[in-house]
Amino acid sequence: MAAGTFGESGADLRLVGIRKAFPGFTAIEELDLTIPAGSFFALLGPSGCGKTTTLRLVAGLEVPTAGRVLIGGTDVTDAKPHRRPVNTVFQSYALFPHMSVIENVAFGLRRRKVADAIGKAHEALRLVELDHVANRRPSQLSGGQQQRVALARAVVNRPALLLLDEPLGALDLKLRRQMQLELKSIQSEVGLTFLHVTHDQEEAMTMADTVAVMNKGRIEQLGSPAELYELPRTGFVATFLGQSNLFDATVEQTAGGVITARTAGGVLAVPAARAVSAAGRITLGVRPEKLLLHPTEPARDEQHNVLGPGRIVDASFTGVSTQYLVEIPGLGTIAVFAQNLVFGAVYTPGQEVWVAWEREHTFGLDADARAAAAPDDELDPEPADDAAGPPVEAA
Ligand SMILES: Nc1ncnc2c1ncn2[C@@H]1O[C@H](COP(=O)(O)OP(=O)(O)OP(=O)(O)O)[C@@H](O)[C@H]1O
Ligand SMILES: [Mg+2]
Repeated sequence: MAAGTFGESGADLRLVGIRKAFPGFTAIEELDLTIPAGSFFALLGPSGCGKTTTLRLVAGLEVPTAGRVLIGGTDVTDAKPHRRPVNTVFQSYALFPHMSVIENVAFGLRRRKVADAIGKAHEALRLVELDHVANRRPSQLSGGQQQRVALARAVVNRPALLLLDEPLGALDLKLRRQMQLELKSIQSEVGLTFLHVTHDQEEAMTMADTVAVMNKGRIEQLGSPAELYELPRTGFVATFLGQSNLFDATVEQTAGGVITARTAGGVLAVPAARAVSAAGRITLGVRPEKLLLHPTEPARDEQHNVLGPGRIVDASFTGVSTQYLVEIPGLGTIAVFAQNLVFGAVYTPGQEVWVAWEREHTFGLDADARAAAAPDDELDPEPADDAAGPPVEAA
């Protein structure tokens, strides 16, 4: 697939001091965000955190209560939707049912009297590998194909900024994964700025260069998928993006760049550079796959944290890994993901074990991090009903 006429690069997006209050409810508390031109940016968060509201503010479908929206350096806060270099693909793809696929894709170009609208529409359809169905009606396509047409229809306008609001929500898991990869390769081919909204953490991490984790109308943390995963800075990020074991702790000392802190299960250490605060009550965290189980007490050394003895209370075989729950007296239950290097589970419920991990995998959070962790029912939310409207054409 050639980039061809889609070679223009996107524009950067800046949201400055944005607040959005609806009567009786503030959907966006405070939002400052810069999305560099040409990047694939994901806004990730649970249902109701303000993702769609943010997109609607960028598209001009909502007016902010406070703050400014800048696209490519131009202040568009007061510009009408059709005056903004933006296209939106909503969860419900809203193609015109009475038009053929090619007419749907060419619609925006024709309305703006762009030369060779049909030729450009064919090129956009080739990009999503659907040129062979150009003469069909939308009703003669599968849901996934319709979504790809909606994407072609948005991309063909070469918006400086493409807004995607859960555009893959209607697809089954396999097609969804396939479309994630396709969308990503389309983005790198056309070089436009993509702002992708999702509540699926795996989708955000697979697709985006930068992910912003949003919670209750605020951005909790922003960074590359690996940064967010390896060094979460809040309890919400630590538990919404993958799983984490979190322990309440009280700092005993900081020496040589290492903080040691007492937990109900013993003293643990965390590199000071990986801790949000270094005094008083803190929360220590570690990802389940960083932990190793030992049948006997491992030697204590400067590189490792060790907890135990504990007891295996559950072992779930998931194929690639076995997920153990280990009860540590006083501390609670710890999740341990062990790669399946041998046949089946190695430890069985009731067995005594120690848990060890490299200190440098530990992260330190504020004292209230456990309370701020994502509730379980938000870890895998149902596909949300989006406030989708008809597609918005670019200026
Ligand atoms: N017009 C409105 N009037 C009042 N409240 C609103 C309005 N639009 C949205 N809200 C509220 O603002 C909050 C954020 O809504 P938004 O649609 O941005 O959430 P979201 O993050 O997109 O969620 P989802 O993942 O479910 O789509 C919600 O609590 C919602 O009820
Ligand atoms: Mg939404």
